Formats: sequence, C-alpha cells, structure tokens
Amino acid sequence: MKISVPTETAPREQRVALAPDSVARLVKQLKLEVAVQRGAGIRAGFRDDAYTSAGATIVPDAAAAFGGAEVVAKVQPPTADEISLIGDGAALISLLRPGHDARIPAALAQRHVTALALELVPRITRAQSMDVLSSQSTVSGYKAVLIGASSLGKFLPMLTTAAGNISPAKVFVIGAGVAGLQAIATARRLGGVVSGFDVRPAAREQVLSLGATFVANDVVSDSAQTAGGYARAQTEDEQARTLAAIGNHIKDMDLVVTTAQIPGRAAPTLITEEMVQSMRAGSVIVDLAAETGGNCALSKPGETVTAHDVTILAPVNLPSTVAFHASQMFGRNVFELMKHLVQDGALVLDPNDEITGAMMMTHDGKVVR
Ligand code: NAI
Repeated sequence: MKISVPTETAPREQRVALAPDSVARLVKQLKLEVAVQRGAGIRAGFRDDAYTSAGATIVPDAAAAFGGAEVVAKVQPPTADEISLIGDGAALISLLRPGHDARIPAALAQRHVTALALELVPRITRAQSMDVLSSQSTVSGYKAVLIGASSLGKFLPMLTTAAGNISPAKVFVIGAGVAGLQAIATARRLGGVVSGFDVRPAAREQVLSLGATFVANDVVSDSAQTAGGYARAQTEDEQARTLAAIGNHIKDMDLVVTTAQIPGRAAPTLITEEMVQSMRAGSVIVDLAAETGGNCALSKPGETVTAHDVTILAPVNLPSTVAFHASQMFGRNVFELMKHLVQDGALVLDPNDEITGAMMMTHDGKVVR
C-alpha cells in the first residue's frame, strides 16, 4: 500500500504532512510505500535526500503525488485542481475545515475519495496521539509569546544590571487550553510574571500547576466544560462577570495572549476597545483567535493594528512559522492515525469505528458530514 505526500500550495504554508522520521516509521513498522513530491519538505527544512534515506521515493510533480497512492496525506485542504488529481477511491487525510466550503467535500465525494478531516479527531485518550489540533496549538502558543515579546519594548525577565534593576514584564494569557498553557509555560521560561484565565475548572488547576496565578476564580464553573472537553458558550451573567474581571486585570499588563475559542461558534470577545484604551502605552496583545472572529474587538486577522498606543497582533497560521517541528508533530499524528487505519497490511476505513467514523467527511461517493 502506498501513501503519498504532495507539496503544500496554500499561500504562506511551509509545513509538510510527513517529516522523514514519520516516513521511516511508516516504512519500517507498517511496511508502507511512501511517495513524496520533489521539494515537498524543503520549506520545513527537510531535503529530498532525507526522505529517500527514510525509505521514501521522490516523485516529480503533483500529478504523481496525488494520483497512484491509496492514501494522500496533506496539511491544508486540497484545491479543486488537486482533488481532480486524486485517484478514484483513494483516501485523503488532511485538515479540511469542516463546515467552511461545501464544494470541497462535494468534489471529494464525486471522486469517491474517503476524506478524513484531521480537525475531527475525537478528543478521547486513545486518539490523543493523532490530535493535530493539539500538536499545532502547542506550536501556536509558544510562538505567540515570542512574537509578542519581540513587539514589546520591554524585557520579559527581571534583570539586575549595572544600569539598575529591571522589573519583569507582566503577561496575561486568556484561554488556558492547549495553546494557552503552552503560552503560559513559554512566558514563564522567559521570566515574565504570568497570570491566566479560563472558564473550565480543569484549566484553573493546570494554570496554577505551571506557576502562574489565576484571575477571576468566581467565573469558573463546573458546567463550563462539555463532554468533549471543550468550553460551552457563557451565559450573559457569566460573560458580564468575565469582562469585568478581565477589564480590571488587563490595565496593568504588558503582554496579553488570547486563545479563547468555542467550537463551531465565533470566538468570544473578551477584550473591548475600552479595555485596550485602559492599557499601558506600549503594551501588546496577541490574538490567537483572530481567524474565528477574535478575542479582541480591534484585531484584524493577519494584520498588526496599533490603537490607543497598544499593538494588537492577530497572526494567522503560526504553526507554519515553526515549520520544522510543526511538521514533525503533524507527521507523528498522521503516523499514529495510519497505525490505527492499517490492519494486517490493509487500509480499513470503517464508518462505525469511534475514531475513523468521527473524522469521515466523505465515503462511498457520499458526503457524510
Ligand atoms: P479551544 O482551542 O477550543 O479553546 C481554547 C480555550 O479557550 C479552552 O481552554 C476554553 O476553555 C477557553 N475558553 C472558551 N471560552 C472562554 C472564555 N469566555 N473565557 C476564557 N476562556 C475561554 O480548546 P483546546 O485548547 O483545543 O482544548 C481544550 C481542552 O480540550 C483541553 O484543555 C483538554 O481538556 C481537552 N483536550 C482533550 C484531548 C484528548 O483527550 N484527546 C486533546 C486536546 C484537548
């Protein structure tokens, strides 16, 4: 059985779906053939010879990479042209942005492709090693602090120098899921004085265990976490108390990183224009929720806005900017998924399987999700 890795064509996408270490595991452990499009890994720091050393074959172009394999592994959703190159009846493993553009699943179903959306890996312990959203959120949380720190005209750590003592920067992380916890850990490593906030009780414990303080204890509620591990939308009363607590705390912050998301909905607005206005001149906000509407009322996806002397960054696709490790983690997630899908050397795409079924967007010529 063959799995292929095409070059990503989306603008500013530098990652690749499999790094050489995962190729080697697919070849050795699962006995798969792996075909990699020429140059597919180069923007992530992986040359073709690293892939051939890992046991892959290099194929010359997109047509060879998309066609002729039972499984195609990608990072970004395929374009219409790319879908037309996928072999009839093959499987596609990729981020597919479920619910965004119905034309993609329709075109995949027409080609009888079984499409597995990596966003839909169920949040169960057994599937944790396949969870691309988690691995890539780790990258985003880390990088958010670095770009925030480099936009800040201050040191993060406390310094004792011949020119006097420097106080540490105050960092506030709103939303303490995977990205937020990594942001807290990174800001702590850089020496900031860090506080965090989330609506889920489990997140509060995790924030404290990382050595940060927790803001607005009274807004945390046992019912805030759904069975899937995600947060539910807040009630009006909870939202008002949250905004009051954040508004009170944010005035003294130097760097604020926001990551709050509600699956399937617009991200909650947690920083209003009045709050931005209340912040210190020169402070920085990094809004990681910009692509789903933003946690800061003033953020613009992909742009840097300066308002009321505060810099507001709203980066999109941060994982692509740490392409080497992001691809390595992505590839390990894909390898673990393949380990689940390949049984006795054959690809098993069972719609009734708890993991495979949850991820399936198209199967048997039909759009199933
Ligand atoms: P996410 O990206 O959907 O949201 C980020 C964070 O924003 C969450 O922690 C959420 O509670 C928080 N949030 C939502 N509304 C908020 C508000 N109004 N104010 C402040 N914070 C708000 O979530 P993420 O990071 O992808 O995962 C959340 C949780 O899911 C994890 O912490 C974990 O418990 C669970 N999980 C389970 C996995 C598994 O078992 N396989 C894998 C990954 C996560």
